[in-house]
Formats: sequence, structure tokens, C-alpha cells
Amino acid sequence: MRVLLTGHQGYLGSVMAVRLAEAGHDVVGLDSGLFADCVLGPNPADPPTIAVDLRDVTVEQLAGFDAVIHLAALSNDPLGSLAPTLTYDINHFASTRLAKLSREAGVRRFLYASTCSVYGAAGEDLVGEDAPLRPVTPYAESKVRVEDDLVQLADDDFTPVFLRNATAFGFSPRLRADIVLNNLVGHAVLSGEVRVLSDGTPWRPLVHAADIADAFLAALVAPRESVHCRAFNVGMAENNLTVAQIAEAVVEAVPGSKLVITGEAGADPRSYRVDFARITEHLPAFVPQWTVAAGAVELHSAYVEHGLTEQAFTKRFTRLARLADRQSAGSLADDMRPVGARVL
Ligand SMILES: NC(=O)c1ccc[n+]([C@@H]2O[C@H](COP(=O)([O-])OP(=O)(O)OC[C@H]3O[C@@H](n4cnc5c(N)ncnc54)[C@H](O)[C@@H]3O)[C@@H](O)[C@H]2O)c1
Repeated sequence: MRVLLTGHQGYLGSVMAVRLAEAGHDVVGLDSGLFADCVLGPNPADPPTIAVDLRDVTVEQLAGFDAVIHLAALSNDPLGSLAPTLTYDINHFASTRLAKLSREAGVRRFLYASTCSVYGAAGEDLVGEDAPLRPVTPYAESKVRVEDDLVQLADDDFTPVFLRNATAFGFSPRLRADIVLNNLVGHAVLSGEVRVLSDGTPWRPLVHAADIADAFLAALVAPRESVHCRAFNVGMAENNLTVAQIAEAVVEAVPGSKLVITGEAGADPRSYRVDFARITEHLPAFVPQWTVAAGAVELHSAYVEHGLTEQAFTKRFTRLARLADRQSAGSLADDMRPVGARVL
């Protein structure tokens, strides 16, 4: 298939682009390059790229694609809370616009990267896809709004699919340090401490970046009736863990590290456990491979092998800090559009 992958220069996109190409798809990327140089290890080989801001995409740029996989977004809760208007502009309005233009251009399938955080404060019960959506941040709210808009766009020729990813982990050449497992392993490697700021009790469903890529691959080629206008939680039951359990996996993976639970961050409303039965039933080609324990070992090896530094960990690979640095340096405008030459 000829596939347009938005956000291909991000954390998940850099892994997904390779897996799509390996599966024989003809991939073109679309990205404004916010984190294009946030690389750990060798530079990834990007597919042909449309270097444009999502808000400026034209219908002509979308012609000739069988499917669009839409990852591009301001993609975390703190970032969304800091810049809620921008989060709605990019994550909501520009995403809905992209879907409308895609439909107009004749794209038949639109895979949307949603998130399990749409369930919000769900408590102890397992949440399936039909559970009420109670987003507690602008980021999660923007994802719910796009899902709602996409439902309205679905028709015989246009199939939206909502892939509600658990929190990702694992190595990507374009690393992110601001997601829980990647963060805990990084701190452990750099300081010897696995530091948990909550009381350790919140539930976090996790999923490896490569497993997310495989879920999208499965949804890309699945029969229309299995996926049409359907939401799927992406992850696996085994990786529904408390923050304390995740931290224990890190202690196991990083020799000599010790666990410190400070509890200083107070109550965290983002606790939920997710039911992954639907994806197993409707997308049997998706067989997740990565446990959190295996991911912690992988990250430890990658950080050591590629020489992760404190500076890179806290600045280059941390979304908020990276964007703030680029804005101060003048290479990124207040509205998150790159200024001047692209940073590659
Ligand atoms: N990483 C996770 O844990 C996770 C979990 C659930 C859902 N998701 C979703 O998956 C998607 C990808 O996440 P990620 O972790 O790879 O994020 P990321 O921040 O690493 O990558 C996002 C990419 O989108 C691009 N982008 C952002 N705004 C853009 C714009 N206006 N125009 C063009 N490109 C733009 C960035 O340059 C970047 O390359 C996001 O939609 C995110 O919400 C991620």
C-alpha cells in the first residue's frame, strides 16, 4: 500500500516507518521536524518526506495514498496543559482537517493515534473501548474530539480507525525520556536511583513502540469490516502495572540501582487499567511481544551503548524542554512552526 505517515520523525514514527517499509509498504512521511535531531545512536534513515506543518497540509499533498497513519501531535499531557490552545489547534483542528482532506483526496483508510488516557480517572476497574471517556487533560480531550469528528466522516469509502495506545516504552532512534519506563531507566543509569515521585500506586498500561507499530500494521491491512470506525486499545494485559511494579522492573534491569519512592508528587488522577481483549479478537495478526521487564533491559543496554548523557536526557529527549530550548534559540516560533532552515 502507499501510506502517508504523519509524525514519522517522532518517537513512535521513527520505529513505525521502518516496520511499514519492511512489511512492503511504500511509505512517505510528513512532519515539521520538531524533534528531528533528537537522535540517540546512529541517524535513522527517514522515508521520503513532506516537510510541512500539519496545519498547512493541502489536498494535493494527500493525493495518491491508500491510507494515512496519523501520529503527528503535540504529544504529552504536560505539553498540552502548558499550551492548551496550540494543543487544540494542532491535535484537534488540524487533525480533523487532515482527515477531511484525506477523504476528499480519495484516501480510504485513516488510522488515528489516540490514547488510553481518554479514559481518564477510571479507578480500579478494567476499561474496555466502550467505557465512558473522561479525559482529564487538554491533550486527552483533544484526542476524544478527533475521534468524535472522525466518526462523522466515516462512510463507505472512508474508514477511520482509532488506535488508543497505552503509554509507550522502548528504544527508538528518536528517543523520548519523558515517558515513564524510558524515564526511570534513564535516571537509574545516570544516578543509580529509580526515583518514583508518586506513591507508586497509580496503574499505568504500557506498550512497546515496536508493538504499537505492529498494531497499526495489522489495522492497515485488516478487512474493512473488522476495523471500520472502531476503537482498539493497543497493549497487552501483562503490561497493566502499577508505577511501583514498573520501578521494580527497572531495579532488576539496571545493575546496582536502588528504589526510592518519594511520594512528593501527591495524588495522580491518571490511574487506569485497560482491557485489551478487543484487539486480540479483531486483529489476530497483532501479537504483542514486549514485556516491561524486557523493555527495561533493552533500554538499559541502548543507553549504555550509545552513551546517554544527563544533558541529552533532561533536555534533548524531554519534549517540553526541547521545544522551550528551540524557541529560545529562535528556531521555533511561538506557534510551534519551525523558523528558517529545518533542523535535521
Ligand atoms: N508515546 C506515547 O506514549 C503515546 C501514547 C499514546 C498515544 N500516542 C500518540 O502517538 C502519536 C506519536 O507519539 P510520539 O510519542 O511519537 O510523539 P513525538 O512527540 O515523539 O512525535 C510527534 C511528531 O509529530 C510531529 N509534529 C507535531 N506537531 C506537528 C505539526 N504541527 N505539524 C507537523 N508535524 C508535527 C513532531 O515533529 C514529531 O515528529 C501522538 O499522536 C501521540 O499522541 C503516543
